Amino acid sequence: MSGMTAEMKKIKKAEQKEAKLRMKQISKENNKIIKKFEKEKKRKKVDPSEYQTTMENPDNIIEIDNLHTYFFTDMGTVKSVNGVSIEVPKGKTVALVGESGCGKSVTSLSVMKLVQGPTGQIVDGAIRYNRKGGAVDIVKTPISEMQHIRGNEIAMIFQEPMTSLNPIFTIGYQIDETIKLHRPDMKDEDIKKQTIEMLKLVGIARAEGIYDCYPHELSGGMRQRVMIAMSLSCDPQFIIADEPTTALDVTIQAQILDLLRDIKQKIDASILLITHDLGVVAEMADYVVVMYAGKIVEQGTAHEVFLNPKHPYTMGLIKSKPAVGKVVDRLYSIPGAVPNPVSMPNYCFFKDRCDKCLAKCNGDIPELRYISEDHKVACHLYDSKGGK
Ligand SMILES: Nc1ncnc2c1ncn2[C@@H]1O[C@H](COP(=O)(O)OP(=O)(O)OP(=O)(O)O)[C@@H](O)[C@H]1O
Ligand SMILES: [Mg+2]
Repeated sequence: MSGMTAEMKKIKKAEQKEAKLRMKQISKENNKIIKKFEKEKKRKKVDPSEYQTTMENPDNIIEIDNLHTYFFTDMGTVKSVNGVSIEVPKGKTVALVGESGCGKSVTSLSVMKLVQGPTGQIVDGAIRYNRKGGAVDIVKTPISEMQHIRGNEIAMIFQEPMTSLNPIFTIGYQIDETIKLHRPDMKDEDIKKQTIEMLKLVGIARAEGIYDCYPHELSGGMRQRVMIAMSLSCDPQFIIADEPTTALDVTIQAQILDLLRDIKQKIDASILLITHDLGVVAEMADYVVVMYAGKIVEQGTAHEVFLNPKHPYTMGLIKSKPAVGKVVDRLYSIPGAVPNPVSMPNYCFFKDRCDKCLAKCNGDIPELRYISEDHKVACHLYDSKGGK
């Protein structure tokens, strides 16, 4: 018996040693790759011609084209965004939906060039941004130039306002500072005026009083409004809102969404709205993109995707959304879990959770294809209908 245990211990030790060696090997390879990307990022004096580009469609504000963003971890490469293409037309709202961990935030952080380095890197693809004065490819744009784009032209609203507000400064001071950063030529009194204007725009009553308050003196909903005011204080033309209402209760959620819609009209901006709340999508979005495990599985007008969902994953998402007035014993949830991100299968990523799969679903990963003019799906069920 003890011999067996000793034998087992030996095997275990050998396995551990092998795992350690493998990790070391991976880490060595990662370092090589990361070094290359970081060197590229740190280049100074990049000629604008290197990142200038042309939009495929000038009516789009942003064109994410075949984006690949990976994390090179010691456990292996996590392909968080694995060939994603999304267009946001000017003045429209595009919703990005999908389960936790599918790559929504990493997609949006890529657009801002804020992916957590050095492990996280954009490894392939383009992000064309229709900048006033000429389109640029954000992937190739140097950090120094990105600092003008962030905040000034593209604003990001994060999920949790307390992480973006500093508890030791007043609300007014913080918004003033943001404006100052982007408009160094503005006079202090004009900056204060603009801050108060912004607070009023986001529906804060007694804006003058709130100007002197500290973050902890405000409610959660007010803090989120302040965050939005801060993000919008420099008239962005494109807003990325990553789960802007998840941390709030339902009534405040509705108010913040109304506010976003209102502001979008007032400043004529375009929005990329990230959410896992399909109710929010139905209310706000013109177009919907459904992501699963780093890839897009369905994409189309909100109307089409909602009323005529095609991908079994989208159907599952819609089925798992509680409906008002409908009594059910328990809410539906899609069985199974997302595959291990460092060793994805070489067939459809959703196959192992799918109740509609066919024999050919063991074959190649299905491509995203048009099934009608304004609707694309990546699923073998529709292969015969593969249009354009
Ligand atoms: N800094 C990081 N290092 C390593 N892996 C990361 C890092 N950030 C994200 N990932 C991985 O990338 C994948 C996508 O994450 P992401 O944050 O985009 O998910 P999400 O769709 O925004 O989910 P949620 O709805 O929970 O916000 C996940 O597998 C996650 O573990
Ligand atoms: Mg997220």
